[in-house]
Amino acid sequence: MKLWGGRFTKPTNQLVDEYTASIQFDKKLAAYDIKGSIAHVAMLAKCEIISEDDANEITAGLKAVMEKINNGEAVLSEEHEDIHMNVEKLLIDEIGPVGGKLHTGRSRNDQVALDMRLYLRDALMDISQLVANLQEALLKQVKENKETVLPGYTHLQRAQPVLFAHHMLAYVFMLQRDVERLGGSWKRVNKSPLGAGALAGTTFAVDRQFVADELGFDGICENSLDAVSDRDFVVEFLGNAALISTHLSRLCEELVQWSSAEFNFIELDDAFCTGSSMMPQKKNPDVAELVRGKTGRVYGNLIGMLTTLKGLPLAYNKDMQEDKEGMFDTVETLKGALALFAPMMETMDVKQKNMYEAVRNDFSNATDLADYLVGKGMAFRESHAVVGEIVLHCIQKNKYLLDMTLQEIKGFSSIIEEDVFAYLTPEAVVNARNIAGGTALNRVEEQITIAETNLTETEHRLARWAKKIEPLT
Ligand code: ARG
Repeated sequence: MKLWGGRFTKPTNQLVDEYTASIQFDKKLAAYDIKGSIAHVAMLAKCEIISEDDANEITAGLKAVMEKINNGEAVLSEEHEDIHMNVEKLLIDEIGPVGGKLHTGRSRNDQVALDMRLYLRDALMDISQLVANLQEALLKQVKENKETVLPGYTHLQRAQPVLFAHHMLAYVFMLQRDVERLGGSWKRVNKSPLGAGALAGTTFAVDRQFVADELGFDGICENSLDAVSDRDFVVEFLGNAALISTHLSRLCEELVQWSSAEFNFIELDDAFCTGSSMMPQKKNPDVAELVRGKTGRVYGNLIGMLTTLKGLPLAYNKDMQEDKEGMFDTVETLKGALALFAPMMETMDVKQKNMYEAVRNDFSNATDLADYLVGKGMAFRESHAVVGEIVLHCIQKNKYLLDMTLQEIKGFSSIIEEDVFAYLTPEAVVNARNIAGGTALNRVEEQITIAETNLTETEHRLARWAKKIEPLT
């Protein structure tokens, strides 16, 4: 007999049971569901909607059910559709009819919204921590390779040299925005929908704030219809996750390129690479490729959720059950990627000499020669043209700017002096970009300080969250 079987005259078609059930995947919410129920029961007793004795019995029963689910003793069945009704059924089996009082003043609609928020709160916390760990791993490489110069690219053509540390810090700041976005989402996730009932509220004089406080929420959802219909917080999370994936994927692409023989700028640690079944010499950056590849499913989950919500009338619709698998998948995909990424970056070997050689054997100091001429009084547009001719000359002679003699270079402009050579070394070129946010060493050091302050702030924020998220019962 179904928990809602009263008004039905025959059993549900088995295919319907199978098709509408969510227990196969929403069993992941079991611990959150029970945690929410324990808070709900405490509130029912406090508001004298059920007796203290009944509440104690139900709470003990819920804990027993949790234990049975954890040790695999509990049978979760499609016949009972989802985690909420399976838990209720198990509770009634455990303690008898008094278990039937648990669902007083509550609907699965506000219950499932609650469980989703509790789950996502943990996920936000874990993922923020993992992003911070990656930032730290990147900062370690930054500090170990502070003066390493490598070509900076635009259009994937060598453009101007930059410090390797500067390049890595760009990712540290991208990830910083990601962490801050997760922090912004937290505020909207951390509100309690319980008390909204099916859609309109409940006739019982429940204390919504009490439940919210019990569960560490910052407040309650203001409108019962919105409380049960809102999945913005899921979309927001999936959107934030999509951006994190974008950032990781861009870094992946650079790692794949840099570890090729063509670039030969880095070597990933053996522990983070795999081999080929056929070609004995191969060492493939599989992790970076797969993280890049999995970006597809993370984007897909975002589009899927938006599409499911599009055009849904208020309030709850069964369509919304589709909110779970994509969210779980994104949480797990992201956690998997981030957990690997930090140690992979930390153990990466940076081939400083090869990077330097690439800068030295290139024209990426051409802008500096043009700027040098401007310093001697020439208009930039004219100096641009003069340097263009010098570069063409060098290409024809198979040499670089620093290989020219003073005599030779003076042939293009007599205002060029001996000091030009010191002006054009990779170190000088980098350190000439001495403006806030620039690639000069002292400016990179400023960025390291900012990044470290940001990390401390994240740490404090996560500590505040942890206090609200007590360990699950
Ligand atoms: N399994 C459902 C879901 O995930 C729970 C809410 C069901 N509510 C209902 N009225 N059928 O959305």
